[in-house]
This record gives sequence, structure tokens and C-alpha cells, in this order.
Amino acid sequence: MRCVFLSKSLDLRDYLGTEIPHLADRIELVDHRDDGTDADIQMAIAWKPPDDAFARYPNLQAVCSIGAGVDNILACPSLRPDIDVVRVVDPAQAQMMSGFVIWHVIWHQRRFATYLAQQRDQIWRRLRQRAVQEVPVALLGYGEIGQRVAADLAMLGFPVMAWSRTEKPMPAGIIGYHGHDGLADMLARTEVLVNLLPLTPQTRGLLNRETFGRMRRGGYLIQVGRGEHLVDADLLAALESEQLAGAALDVFVPEPLQPNHPFWRHPKIIVTPHDACDVSLTAVSATLRATADAVEAGRRPPHAVDRAQGY
Ligand code: GLV
Repeated sequence: MRCVFLSKSLDLRDYLGTEIPHLADRIELVDHRDDGTDADIQMAIAWKPPDDAFARYPNLQAVCSIGAGVDNILACPSLRPDIDVVRVVDPAQAQMMSGFVIWHVIWHQRRFATYLAQQRDQIWRRLRQRAVQEVPVALLGYGEIGQRVAADLAMLGFPVMAWSRTEKPMPAGIIGYHGHDGLADMLARTEVLVNLLPLTPQTRGLLNRETFGRMRRGGYLIQVGRGEHLVDADLLAALESEQLAGAALDVFVPEPLQPNHPFWRHPKIIVTPHDACDVSLTAVSATLRATADAVEAGRRPPHAVDRAQGY
């Protein structure tokens, strides 16, 4: 099956370089050309596709992301409603994300920012230690990644809560919340808030003044969803008023984070360059293979998102 690359920000052939030989028996990867119509293309792989990217492929059946998120593909104006959009589901990515989140939770719990500041000034001062049970952590989003993060945090002894749009069955030890009222109830008990939500019209701007204001005073934000979830000015105000003690930010609008943005030098913010967790190339190539099989068999590909829900 022929599969075209569509991205304005990445050289996807270069990105997939080492995996291409493993796919060669199944998929012929072709580059996007700027003229004509390619009626023989049934499948695409995309990341931040240009606005007109899909216009030239009248028989395109499915487009695969190279990550867990598909918001950048769904936002493309030339994407027809009948095209399946497929996300990558990768347990190794969930494990990597879990480590990233846990590191930041413990950074906050054990006051490492204060130790670093003390070291800079050669201050030998022991700080009151807080048990994990004293630091409730709440996850926004309880999909494949959220479930792994929740289980690992619970195993370490943190009180864990998780919020999802609709009610989901929760394993023992994790308290579930859903819907608008559920969010307010959860936030009232939250010290560390971890954003793992997909970007949809409903979740855009959810990390705002009201959300921070409902959390316990001195809370902490770990933002690993999408930059558009966060109202930057509201975070700066929450840090200024000490409603929040700090924030770890991995995603921004735009990316890269602009050179003069106040987040860069803020003493209470840790900035990482959208690097919390990659999907493995093996998982991307398995997704491409499974999608090609499904398209050929006239089935819906596994992990095709619900286009109306946006994830
Ligand atoms: C990363 O941002 C992803 O969508 O996997």
C-alpha cells in the first residue's frame, strides 16, 4: 500500500529512518508532491500537516499520527470527514510519561527547588519532610497514559484521583471523578494537578484561573497535555499570588517557546521542550502496518479516534 508523508514541521522520512526497512514489505512510503492528484494513495502519515495537505488525495482512507495526540491532524482544514484518523497507543510511551510525571511530583513533594536554591547560597538547612500520603495528586485524563501514571503513583503511596469526561471504572486505590461537578470536587482535594488531556474544544483553556483557584493553596501543576490547555497569564498570576507553588511545563503555544516568554526565566517554573515521552518508532511502524491491513480489508483501523469527540 502506498502511504504519503504530510508534515510542515518534521522530515517524517528522516524521523522514521531506521523503521522504514521493517515496513518495506507492506508499505511504500512516498513523498508529498505539490502538483497533480494522487488517486492511488489510500493512507497517510502526518504530523502538523499543511492546511491543504489532504486536498490532493481523493481516495485517502486513513491517516496515522506519529504520537498519542491527533489534535494537529484534526485541525487541518482539508481533512475530509470520512477519513479515519489513527493515534499511536504505546505502552512504552505510557511508562516513560509515568516516570516523567513521578519525577516532578517528587520534586515538589521533597522541595528540591528549595534545596537547589539553598545550595546556590551554601545554606545547610534541613526541611520538613512530607510523607507521600500528604500529597494528593489528581490526573486530568484517564486514557492509556493516565491509567499507567495513576497506577504507578498509587504504588508509591500517593493518594491518586483521576478525572475523565465520562464515568470510567476505577481500580482499587484510585478515586474517579467525571463531568463538570466532578472536576470541582476533585480540584478541592488536589495538591498536584497533572494534565494529560487530549486537546478538544472542551478542554482548550481548562488550566485557568478558576481551575487553579479551586486547588489547595500551594499546589503544583504538571502540564504535559497541549500548550492550548493553559492560559499562560493565569498561571503566572497563580504563581505570583502563591496559590500555586510551582509548575512543570512541557508543552507550549507556540513551540518552540518564544525567546522572550516569561516562563523561561521564572524561578518557580521548570521548562522542558515537549520531551516528556516519545512514542517508539516500533509502535509507529506497528500502527502503520495495522492501519494498512485494516484499510485493505475494508475495516476501521485499530485506534482510529472518534472524530466527533476529538480523541
Ligand atoms: C506527543 O505530544 C504525542 O502526541 O504523543
